[in-house]
Amino acid sequence: MCGIIGYCGPLDAQKVLIDGLTQLEYRGYDSAGIALFDENSNIHFIKKVGKVAALKKVCEASPISSHCGIGHTRWATHGGVTSENAHPHMYGHITMIHNGIIENYQELTEAFHLKGKLLSQTDTEVSAAVLNELYKGDPLSAIRGLLSHLKGSYAFCIMFDDRPGEIYAVRNVSPLVAAYTGSGAMIASDLTALLPYSKKYFVVPEGKIIRLTAYQVSVFDICGNREAPDYMEASWNTDAAMKNGFPHYMLKEIHEQPEVLKQTVLPRLKNGLPDFTAEGIPDSMLKSVTEIRIIACGTAMHAGMVARSIIEPGLRIPVTVSIASEFRYEEPMITQNTLTIVISQSGETIDTLAALRLAASCHSPVISVVNVKGSTIARESDYVIYTHGGPEIAVASTKAYTVQIAALYLLFCRMALVRGLYTDEQARQFTSTLLKCSDTMEAMIGRKDLIREAVSHICDSPNAFFIGRGMDYAFSLEGALKLKEISYIHSEAYAAGELKHGTIALITDLVPVIAIATQKNILAKTISNIREVKARGAFVILLITEQTKTDDDLADLVIRIPETDDKFTVFPIAVVLQLIAYYTSVQKGLDVDQPRNLAKSVTVE
Ligand code: M6R
Repeated sequence: MCGIIGYCGPLDAQKVLIDGLTQLEYRGYDSAGIALFDENSNIHFIKKVGKVAALKKVCEASPISSHCGIGHTRWATHGGVTSENAHPHMYGHITMIHNGIIENYQELTEAFHLKGKLLSQTDTEVSAAVLNELYKGDPLSAIRGLLSHLKGSYAFCIMFDDRPGEIYAVRNVSPLVAAYTGSGAMIASDLTALLPYSKKYFVVPEGKIIRLTAYQVSVFDICGNREAPDYMEASWNTDAAMKNGFPHYMLKEIHEQPEVLKQTVLPRLKNGLPDFTAEGIPDSMLKSVTEIRIIACGTAMHAGMVARSIIEPGLRIPVTVSIASEFRYEEPMITQNTLTIVISQSGETIDTLAALRLAASCHSPVISVVNVKGSTIARESDYVIYTHGGPEIAVASTKAYTVQIAALYLLFCRMALVRGLYTDEQARQFTSTLLKCSDTMEAMIGRKDLIREAVSHICDSPNAFFIGRGMDYAFSLEGALKLKEISYIHSEAYAAGELKHGTIALITDLVPVIAIATQKNILAKTISNIREVKARGAFVILLITEQTKTDDDLADLVIRIPETDDKFTVFPIAVVLQLIAYYTSVQKGLDVDQPRNLAKSVTVE
């Protein structure tokens, strides 16, 4: 949450910062601001409530010639959405931007007698004021002093008014990546802002202090000794983070799914069999674990629920799926025989990270399924399965979900193989069907018009229900989340069989119901549940496979997905659910890619 960028070099710093903030805006868009050293070494601020576009307009109207500056796009935590609370914050010698939460800011306010001296309600300004108190002309020693007072998570970029042309940065938990590019030094919350300038970058090590000048990026350990940064190479290209002719990132990312599914699966097949040698995942561990804990948030958690539906019945071992923010407080029983699987697109979700740390402290082997290379979750896991989805920019997750499921399916298949539950032939059949899901997704992308028609029955309704049983219920959860987050329609997912235990009271002829019925083993029962809502007047949109026979009066609109093994219906169904949410949002004239109150990467608890 919150996007940070810093730049020192020969280019026009104001432009570099605005371009970077535009790339990072998906991390938060309540307000945005920049601070720049001008050519006379004075610091100028520009802050605006609202999106980066508003800031850009002001900047373009009064450009500042600068080669060093910092920029921030905010997702509000402490203090409302006002220009006073927008970053950067200035206190004495210090100009600071921050992503994270300083938990002890109230104690610090008292300890450093800051009451009545602050202009904002933010924990960031408190940190700037404390740093100012400690600053006696040596930035490294003052920052070290500051860190000894702070509790919480932070990524700071700091300018000292008597050190023109220099930016300092430090982080704990909250992400930062940096690079010395062909055209200066850069630091940012994530890679997408650096990509137009460099494919080589390094993850800022926690607790180390970074100094950027026009000529270099230096890393200092806590004693002030220099360290060589550990550079890595991005596999994403600049194009991948662009809209490439699509009106929205979300639509582009929906369209990318058939391709990125193959990119995630193919490199892990050897003679058609799943193989995790490259990830170093030992078969002996996959064979010996006696239970699996899957932990994640939001869409990633829904991907875990889909995987659970095949893993537990397939391997005959208990599999639980936990919401990461709840997990730590459930006092979970985890042992070295528990395989923990954490799932995260960003690899930075703080609750998922905290859950991972808890599991690791109980000696459970941890496999993470992560999209962003080098992210904290990836680095702290015993084993990482990278999904090769490319950058996902729209706040609503789409391609990350389907590649997470694909990666988990491959892992399941490997486990079934090494545990003697699948023959080579069965495993090959499984991976070949998985690859063909690329075509079933493509087919649904081609049925956009029918899906758009369904949307006209949802758009004006304040409520919508998604129902299904078994795996179809897991899909419903994701369908409801997608619709509510970008259309603001109150959407609920319900296990179809559970409706009559209370919730069916809400079903009237004003409520559209999206019913998913792809699981043959439970089809008859799901159909009875659909009849129950239809009998209460609901407008039913039925999602079902091509060859499933239904009575004409069962639904008002039927969307059929290609016939496939029940385990794999998630892929075409996901496309339908994503497109329903997408077109609803478009039809309502909403901000599809940056829905209100949300941010892409949730790095605060
Ligand atoms: O980066 P992560 O996968 O850890 O993010 C988890 C959730 O915040 C995320 O899936 C969220 O629910 C989606 N943006 C919703 O579309």
